[in-house]
Amino acid sequence: MQITLIQPDDWHLHLRDDDAMASVVAHSAERFARAIVMPNLRPPITTTQMASAYRERILNALPESTTFTPLMTLYMTDRLSHDEIVTAKQSGIVKGVKLYPAGATTNSDAGVTDIRKLYPVLETMQREKLPLLIHAEVTDPQVDIFDREQVFIDRHLIPLKQDFPDLPMVFEHITTKQAVDFVRACEGRLGATITVQHLLYNRNAMLQGGIRPHYYCLPILKRETHQTALIEAATSGEPHFFLGTDSAPHPQHAKECACGCAGCYTAHAAIELYAEVFEQADALDKLEGFASLFGPDFYDLPRNSKTITLQKMAWQPPESYQFGKDKVVPLGSGETINWQLVR
Ligand code: DOR
Ligand code: ZN
Repeated sequence: MQITLIQPDDWHLHLRDDDAMASVVAHSAERFARAIVMPNLRPPITTTQMASAYRERILNALPESTTFTPLMTLYMTDRLSHDEIVTAKQSGIVKGVKLYPAGATTNSDAGVTDIRKLYPVLETMQREKLPLLIHAEVTDPQVDIFDREQVFIDRHLIPLKQDFPDLPMVFEHITTKQAVDFVRACEGRLGATITVQHLLYNRNAMLQGGIRPHYYCLPILKRETHQTALIEAATSGEPHFFLGTDSAPHPQHAKECACGCAGCYTAHAAIELYAEVFEQADALDKLEGFASLFGPDFYDLPRNSKTITLQKMAWQPPESYQFGKDKVVPLGSGETINWQLVR
């Protein structure tokens, strides 16, 4: 069995930098035409000038004959200025500004400490129609890690939507039924990305027979009822829900240790894994909308014209891939993947 799709895009991707980036970018470029590249480097990408230099490094690391287009983002800090927003928009290369609550996840310590302080900048973004991409988890240590997304909706997303009705926003990597319901109920331009790990797994995968650090990401995998709601949303054909892998490579030693970092590496087989989910839900006919159409429509970008073909044929990814001087262990390493990209 084969399926052919308009070439998909990845609306949420971590590529890292330097050698590490050079060793993973081809996985994304083989599958996706474009990707929203997250800015949480050290130091974070906070200016258009930095984004432009990072974009050049990505383009230079691409294998010849690929036409992958990185879509850049700025990292929002408490000091982001109006002028920077205007410059970003005018550049044409910056497609969004990422809001990480300070301390929410990997390399987020320079993130936003109080969203209200950024209201003047959000006004400018609304005027310029530059999307706000949101890591929607509270960092309040009083809030249970499994509740951080739903509490963020109540404390921050509802007010943000009310106060900036015309600001395009993406609720990144949604993981709960509450998020699905919120996105559906919202008027105006609110998109939501869904990762493949949150569709394939629930929190049991992370704790089955021992602690399995390669399933640990943020927002953390939730219970099965949430996984079911996400599958239903992704395969619904509703245009607010689109593909964003959040593929986030870390060196093997930084995951397999006493305090392992958050992130699942899925770029090696991203569209193949989504195809598994859609097939299991008997919704392969809905994959193209989710993977290839709704994202560009949200971002006001043209849909891709090339196509890709996937074939149902089992394969096993390697235990690890080279990652700079280290190795990265892909999600589901050692397991069989049922779909293959036809090259
Ligand atoms: O699991 C995650 N990893 N979640 C994030 O929000 C960041 C990412 C990373 O950069 O490693
Ligand atoms: Zn991310």
